Amino acid sequence: MLVTGSWFVFLYIFAAAIDNQQKKDKMEMEPSFPKITTHVLQEMKLKQEKIAMLTAYDFSMARILDQAGIDIILVGDSASNVMAGHKTTLPITLNDMIYHASSVMRAVKRALVVVDLPFGTYQGDSKEALHSAIRIMKESGANAVKLEGGEEIHESVERILTAGIPVMGHLGLTPQSIHKFGTYVVRATEEDEARKLVHDAHILEEAGCFAMILEKIPAKLAGEVTEKVKIPIIGIGAGNQVDGQVLVLHDMLGITQEFSPRFLRRYHNLSEEIKGSVKTYIGDVKGLDFPNEREQY
Ligand code: KIV
Repeated sequence: MLVTGSWFVFLYIFAAAIDNQQKKDKMEMEPSFPKITTHVLQEMKLKQEKIAMLTAYDFSMARILDQAGIDIILVGDSASNVMAGHKTTLPITLNDMIYHASSVMRAVKRALVVVDLPFGTYQGDSKEALHSAIRIMKESGANAVKLEGGEEIHESVERILTAGIPVMGHLGLTPQSIHKFGTYVVRATEEDEARKLVHDAHILEEAGCFAMILEKIPAKLAGEVTEKVKIPIIGIGAGNQVDGQVLVLHDMLGITQEFSPRFLRRYHNLSEEIKGSVKTYIGDVKGLDFPNEREQY
């Protein structure tokens, strides 16, 4: 009798241990927070819940952004400026973008990760566009790609979508066309350009883009587009009547110093803080203060 009772206790403890382990495994596989998908973003637009998006190009920063709860991480071709020091976004290559995107993907659990197709990998040839997008998705594991332009790239957008790859559009100031514009001033202030922008927004929506960036255009125009199209509109220098906002991380943290357009809110002066820490370190090393007794073996 005593033996049967012990068996029951043993079996009960054993079953409870297995159950606990299964629960732990499930929690590790399925984070308690929902993964942001293109469908979640669409719901956010419907619920009028604003979407927060920032750029990231490396593992460490991407992990911080994801843990902080950012909705979308853009592996932007602005990496060409802020990571590689080029004057424009034109020189960055597809391999560079895949390297940055892979680093970001190793860090991210929740945010949707969108990767820019770099200049020269999609314009004018929809087959090349599809090939470039497939390389990004396959080699980095990213969730979506972003292309700059309207009607002129709609074939590329449609072809990429045939492979089941979500596409984000980008209108207004499109930095890959800087040599055509000649300057980084506000776009679509004139009637003709504003009309073309609205037309392009409809074309991108009809082509199947899941969202769109509007960069540096009048707030009123961005508000009109946001009302007219059903997909989420993310603004940068496009006012507050849009569905969400994006900034370049290095600009909003004050790592870059020379770039200060009106739309940029700086949340930190990290470049000064880093310089201060580095100066203190140099002083400690030269003054024989570092390492001390506790910092050596
Ligand atoms: O590359 C980038 O960082 C961008 C943002 C400015 C939207 O495209």
